[in-house]
Amino acid sequence: MYNKKTENNRIIIIGSNGMLGQRLTDFYINKNVKLKCVSNEKESFFEKVNYSQTDLLEPNGIKQIIEEFEPEIIINAAAYTAVDKAEIEKELALAINSEAIKVINNACSKIGAHFINISTDYVFDGENGPYSETDQVNPVGYYGQSKLDGERQLLSSSGSYTIVRTNVLYGPAKFGRPDFVKWVVNSLKSGEQIRIVTDQINNPTYLDDLVNGIAAIAEKRSQGIYNIGGSEFLSRYDFTLKIADFFKLDKSLIKKIITAELNQPAKRPLKSGLKIDKVINELEYSPRSINESLQLMQDELKLV
Ligand SMILES: NC(=O)c1ccc[n+]([C@@H]2O[C@H](COP(=O)([O-])OP(=O)(O)OC[C@H]3O[C@@H](n4cnc5c(N)ncnc54)[C@H](OP(=O)(O)O)[C@@H]3O)[C@@H](O)[C@H]2O)c1
Repeated sequence: MYNKKTENNRIIIIGSNGMLGQRLTDFYINKNVKLKCVSNEKESFFEKVNYSQTDLLEPNGIKQIIEEFEPEIIINAAAYTAVDKAEIEKELALAINSEAIKVINNACSKIGAHFINISTDYVFDGENGPYSETDQVNPVGYYGQSKLDGERQLLSSSGSYTIVRTNVLYGPAKFGRPDFVKWVVNSLKSGEQIRIVTDQINNPTYLDDLVNGIAAIAEKRSQGIYNIGGSEFLSRYDFTLKIADFFKLDKSLIKKIITAELNQPAKRPLKSGLKIDKVINELEYSPRSINESLQLMQDELKLV
């Protein structure tokens, strides 16, 4: 719950043009905080925001931005997120998802800032999810491995930090590549058949619920690992049916498949998802239902 405890704080959002970064920016832009946005592109998607372009592959850039702005809070929503490509581009994934985390964390420690880094359920193998914060990690692909290495940069440090694990993000991000919901809606609207897996289980996370959870963490400077996910656990296929039902689209275009049929380069955790009891109990986190979230997306984006 946002209680204005971060009022007047200096906050940096890294990856502010990404799917999550946009919604974090949207949230904080209307709050009484001193906001600095940082992303890879030349310009911010948002007008009138204090913005700097920086590539996390050049660590001095982000280091200098942190030293100059002297924030109380840094939220990193930037990441190498190409799950299949990560199997080949291992060094790149590691540089962005782990080495850059070390640089940001060191810069935070020097000025006493609290660092919130976003991680993923892909740190688990998906054999027996959903997972709590203390469950055994065991990534099955390199994206998950690089994100786990990033977590370990923080776990082995003495700084003030939170690792926020989340899964299957969706919501009303207006810029950049479409999220899963938009993709389903656009495909079904244009009469395209889509093949959706029945064997990947998650609790899809509405972006603005995640933003609320992160804002609550920022206020308390909560330490350690927190899961933030949605209120409903279901297969990707059932999620797709819910989307089709909500938008009154043709469900006969949705074909059931299993993950193995996709022959993807990277393995996925199948029986996954994140237990959210800790964040509910400690931070009054209260995720919406999927239908409530889809309604909000519809109100904002007018998808159909
Ligand atoms: N999306 C999901 O379903 C999901 C699920 C679980 C966890 N997560 C985690 O949630 C966080 C946010 O994910 P997202 O879906 O919002 O990701 P996203 O849309 O792919 O955004 C990531 C951002 O990072 C930026 N970035 C990548 N490489 C960079 C570099 N070298 N220097 C500076 N910026 C760089 C990207 O810029 P460019 O586009 O210009 O490269 C982009 O703005 C990530 O930590 C991700 O691992 C996401």
